[in-house]
Amino acid sequence: MTDTPRTTAERIDAFTQRREAAHTGNQRSVDNQHKRGKQTARERIAALLDTDSFQEIDEFARHHNHQFGMQDNRPDGDGVVCGLGTIEGKTVAVFAHDFTVLGGSLAEANGRKIVKVQKLALKLGCPIIGINDSGGARIQEGVGSIALFAEIFRLNVASSGVIPQISLIMGPSAGGAVYSPALTDVTIMVDQISHMYITGPDVIKTVTGESVGHEELGGGRTNNTVSGNAHYLASDEDDALNYVRDLLSFLPQNNLDPADSDEFESDLSLTPEDEALDTLMPDSPAQPYDILDVVTTILDDGEFLQVSELFAPNVVTGFGRVEGVSVGIIANQPMQLAGTLDIDASEKAARFVRLCDAFNLPILTFVDVPGFLPGTDQEYGGIIRRGAKLIYAYGEATVPLVTLITRKAYGGAYCVMGSKQLGADINLAWPSAQIAVMGAQGAANIVYRRKLKAVEEAGEDVEAARAELIQDYEDALLNPYLAAEEGYIDAVIKPSETRSRIVRSLRALKNKHVDAPARKHGNIPL
Ligand code: HXC
Repeated sequence: MTDTPRTTAERIDAFTQRREAAHTGNQRSVDNQHKRGKQTARERIAALLDTDSFQEIDEFARHHNHQFGMQDNRPDGDGVVCGLGTIEGKTVAVFAHDFTVLGGSLAEANGRKIVKVQKLALKLGCPIIGINDSGGARIQEGVGSIALFAEIFRLNVASSGVIPQISLIMGPSAGGAVYSPALTDVTIMVDQISHMYITGPDVIKTVTGESVGHEELGGGRTNNTVSGNAHYLASDEDDALNYVRDLLSFLPQNNLDPADSDEFESDLSLTPEDEALDTLMPDSPAQPYDILDVVTTILDDGEFLQVSELFAPNVVTGFGRVEGVSVGIIANQPMQLAGTLDIDASEKAARFVRLCDAFNLPILTFVDVPGFLPGTDQEYGGIIRRGAKLIYAYGEATVPLVTLITRKAYGGAYCVMGSKQLGADINLAWPSAQIAVMGAQGAANIVYRRKLKAVEEAGEDVEAARAELIQDYEDALLNPYLAAEEGYIDAVIKPSETRSRIVRSLRALKNKHVDAPARKHGNIPL
């Protein structure tokens, strides 16, 4: 006699028990997970999605590995939970590695589950969210797990620019497991809990002799501040999941859908916040101010969701809404490195421009940039090739582009930061704008080198002469009017008029359409 169910009631009973066992998992592993401040895969999915919206797929998928004692260890679901659900009523696909089952390791069976849900997301045209908490490729398997990694990567690439792809790192993510997140649009890590690296501390110690801890090597803070691999550092898991919900509220379901918007007509009469912009700009061009004070004045309710806030803070990138419609913001930040563009800032901004362009979000650019950061670090690191990415990104963008120059727009950095000649539609400048090849100090030293030498040789006061020449240069060139006379900008506006001008520009650009010549794809300098 076996206890194989025969009657309908027995079959339903057996199914219920099997499903319960799959959902409950191993209590010791679940307790361990909780002790570390981590939730289980199902708890995370429940917290991420609208209540009771999750529909699981491949709940009973199991591996067929009969080596290394694995024949006796075939848990239902195989350590990854996949399915569909909703966030704010809109469909999303989700997969979550379950660290309590075989360390959430990726294998052939659960890899196929992920690929299936990726294909489904593409077919449905909905965002996909991957929750990573995995020891990487399942060591007991052969080629199956690494082959499935490659297939997941290919689906990431096929989905890029078609549906939003978001990665959460909620535990370890090592080896090949890092490349799926790297191929997605936004990666979120949890402070002290997430780790992401190609080779871990032990391998590094063996190969190079270097000693480094998990946190320092690939913790959330390191990946947010140093490498820029991650775009948000969450304080805990709930913060991470809330960030995803916020982020998705700014993005469309796919590249053909209009972004979620709750359109309304703003009251464009002057507010106290608008008027405050007239006194924001310091008299001295050397004095910094916070560009966020400008950005938040323009956005609905001053709400701005930064992406990559901790990486290259000399440029600010993020999402907001104008009259209920999502927009992307790129802004030089004079409070950091005087707002200069370096390699990190250029790449951060370039990637963000492309994210907005892929999903049809208008881009507002705020310019106060004295130039590219000088130095051998930057030159040897490839600022030419890597700074060119930002030019490329703006140059190929077809979404509405509105640029405001608040103060400095010098040299190459003027070109790069959404200039009219790179394709921006509406270019505005404040009266404090300084649009020129370079700042006064540098210009005077070069242009008047001989004159200053003559002053020195005559035994006269060189510094007084230099100051006078700098003043002459400033008076002649460091203003917005030469650009306005030539049409390089469209209008000089009072700072307090900024919100109203930008709102009206975006209204006008709503139906912008650009037909680019056919090509397979461009060749962005990578
Ligand atoms: C199979 C794994 C596993 C893996 C963890 N486990 N990683 N099983 N394959 N890759 C299992 C452990 O055996 C253990 O099982 C359980 O998961 C929990 O793991 P612990 O080690 O106890 O947890 P912890 O101390 O938190 O350490 C987590 C960890 C560590 C840092 C991730 O497990 C680890 O270093 N794992 C191996 C990482 C790795 O080298 N992966 C391969 C990367 S190469 P029991 O039964 O004891 O509970 C790769 C190539 C892909 O991914 C290439 C694609 C291009």
